[in-house]
Amino acid sequence: MTYPLGAYPIKTFDDFRHVAQLYQYSRAILTALELDLFTALGARSWPIAALARPLRADRRGLDILCRNLAVLGLLVKRGSFYRNTLLARTELNRRSPAYRGAYLELITNQWHDFTQLTDTVRSGKPLDADEPESSVWRRNFTWAMHHRSREQAKTVARFLNLSRARTLLDLGGGPGTYAMALLAANPSLRATVADRPAALKVAREIAATHPAKARLSFAPLDFMLDALPGRYDVVWLSNIIHIYAPAQNVGLFRKIRKALAPGGRLLIHDSFLTDPHGLNPIDTTAFALTMLLFTDTGNTYASRDVMRWLRKAGYRRVRLLTGIGTRKDGENGLIEASSFKAGP
Ligand SMILES: C[S@@+](CC[C@H](N)C(=O)[O-])C[C@H]1O[C@@H](n2cnc3c(N)ncnc32)[C@H](O)[C@@H]1O
Repeated sequence: MTYPLGAYPIKTFDDFRHVAQLYQYSRAILTALELDLFTALGARSWPIAALARPLRADRRGLDILCRNLAVLGLLVKRGSFYRNTLLARTELNRRSPAYRGAYLELITNQWHDFTQLTDTVRSGKPLDADEPESSVWRRNFTWAMHHRSREQAKTVARFLNLSRARTLLDLGGGPGTYAMALLAANPSLRATVADRPAALKVAREIAATHPAKARLSFAPLDFMLDALPGRYDVVWLSNIIHIYAPAQNVGLFRKIRKALAPGGRLLIHDSFLTDPHGLNPIDTTAFALTMLLFTDTGNTYASRDVMRWLRKAGYRRVRLLTGIGTRKDGENGLIEASSFKAGP
């Protein structure tokens, strides 16, 4: 019997065995990344014996690995030769401008973190609970966010109509990927990226070559502790609320409401649970495990709960924006909230 990858819900022991061992595929992919196999393959076709040399890998080991990558759809096998698919040749290849290196490194490193899930479920404490935030970690993470969001930011910028907005705050904007995409699509807009200093350092580096850099400013702050600077037509809050507990999010929504200009709106972009039982999309539920491992209070939330919190925080017009597209990780939820009758 052949299974599609990720066959669920589990109904039989066969299903169980399949899903419980999906880590084999993850591990094969992460090993390929650790070997930098996709970079070595480049744009050519390789027989295993020739490829084993630059990778300094065992022939049998590499043969088995490449067969697995081919069946997963990352490599093409023709006779005894292997080559990259378009995805592998671009986004997984260090020599390509489309390479998503920082994000690939983030998920590769998470392999070890996930082996500690049992301890974390027992303790409820994140892995680095006793360690202060390091600027090197924040820098790498911020680049990872940029490599993760580049395309989604363009999709969002095409989808949103911000033609009447003049000022935007990208709160917890990290690398500023969304702010920059929104500036590129809206020539009358000015944007501020607010985040921790180490994240803003990366945002400044990325902005240095961006055509809209003159319309972009930076605000170093801790938005949970500090006042928000200025008043904005739009506050863009992307991938933030899953880091915090419901009550913390309500407090943040209240703070943001005071930073909105008359007619202004808050846009929340995140992975929301959308079914009545709070289980799906499955990737959004799985993402809560990541939040458990790395945050004190984070989780993933149902869109209807977030909308309820917004009303509690004083927003009067709250709606789910649909139609932005489908992503497997569910990171395409958008909620719009305004405390005024008409938005910009
Ligand atoms: C998951 S990243 C999202 C980055 C970006 N908004 C995006 O969607 O790609 C979360 C960002 O929020 C920032 N952040 C979280 N809590 C913060 C706080 N209390 N003050 C300032 N920044 C914060 C982090 O530094 C990080 O850059």
